[in-house]
Amino acid sequence: MGGIAALARSVQITLTRGDKTVDVDAAEGSRIFQVALDQGLEIPAACGGNKVCGGCHCYVEPFIEPKDKEGEADVLEDLWEDDQIKSNSRLGCQITVTADMAGTKFEFPLEE
Ligand code: FES
Repeated sequence: MGGIAALARSVQITLTRGDKTVDVDAAEGSRIFQVALDQGLEIPAACGGNKVCGGCHCYVEPFIEPKDKEGEADVLEDLWEDDQIKSNSRLGCQITVTADMAGTKFEFPLEE
């Protein structure tokens, strides 16, 4: 029997912004900020996912370590107040959905 190769699997995650929370079956390989936009969450992702604007800031539970910790921190500090940046802050445009992310929660804070 032949198999169907390379079909993207989906991973269930939870996204929150303000009073809106959605459980999503996100396709592996997609980026979190794009998944959120596709769900109608109004993420101010002005740079289109290029790690410049900081608008895709989200809290990640459980935390996913960034590849470029300092680069992300610099972008976050430019746009967000110190008390809005937490130990689990990430840029949603720099997180790609992977199979081991099932059950992960992403909360996008509102700008002050
Ligand atoms: S969308 Fe601009 S930094 Fe992520």
